[in-house]
Amino acid sequence: MKSSSDRTFDYRDSHKKKGAHYHQGFAEIPYRTLMWEMEQRVFDRILEDFYSASAPDHLDFACGSGRILGYLSDRVASSTGVDVAASMLAVARANIPDATLVECDLTRDDPFEGRAFGLITAFRFFPNAQPALRRDAMAALVRHLAPDGLLVFNNHVNAASLVKRITRLCGRKRPSMTVGEVRRLVDGAGLEIVKAYPLGFLPMTEKWMLRPLRLAKAIETTASRLLPGSNIALNNIYVCRKAVSALVSTSESWIGALSTAGIGLTASLVPFLP
Ligand SMILES: C[S@@+](CC[C@H](N)C(=O)[O-])C[C@H]1O[C@@H](n2cnc3c(N)ncnc32)[C@H](O)[C@@H]1O
Repeated sequence: MKSSSDRTFDYRDSHKKKGAHYHQGFAEIPYRTLMWEMEQRVFDRILEDFYSASAPDHLDFACGSGRILGYLSDRVASSTGVDVAASMLAVARANIPDATLVECDLTRDDPFEGRAFGLITAFRFFPNAQPALRRDAMAALVRHLAPDGLLVFNNHVNAASLVKRITRLCGRKRPSMTVGEVRRLVDGAGLEIVKAYPLGFLPMTEKWMLRPLRLAKAIETTASRLLPGSNIALNNIYVCRKAVSALVSTSESWIGALSTAGIGLTASLVPFLP
């Protein structure tokens, strides 16, 4: 597989022939199943902590086969997914018939004409994408985020995690993202991290699991509760909002525009004043 360090690689093309098999992985590959179960608990907590008063309109960017979209669909006001891969969207369409699913690249097109969403999610996307696509995607998501909305995304391949350190020593080079890269991406888009949920502390992979599985699962669940600020988990879920400074500058530009319009209107009325 080509990786983000390959200059000809464009992550947009990565899943154009994938679909059902990808989706099945979350039910069949033990490590994926474990991560997915823990991610669902994190979503339960996010909905409880941030959306108990009203259900948001949800946009799932790079929704793929609709894993996240389907899980949240009962608890949001509306469900919209976008992806560039028709084959992935076909699986999502079969699984979530009520969702609005759009085949598009949000970094290049805007099928929503500036519509804003109260909750945007982007999972298993950022560490895999090449740096320019990461930045373009983040900017597109911020454009569609309501002023009081939240962006929830994950870095499921944390370069500083124990398991990544070990696999690197074994000579495996796969795409990943450092905590610093996540911070710069978030800051650069005018966002701030409100909360982070680390998942996946034990040195396990999709090919190699510690056993018994029940014990591994109990350790993982306890560790993610006890070590909320840790930077060594493999999969980190970030909850972000628009940074206060970004909101202030937006409102300042509105105030600026309004006062300029006001001055212009007053000036044009002067000749008619008694
Ligand atoms: C690993 S899958 C993740 C699917 C889903 N979010 C999940 O967590 O199961 C990554 C997805 O990103 C999509 N993708 C890549 N570049 C994209 C872009 N520019 N706009 C929309 N989707 C994109 C791919 O087609 C693929 O379906």
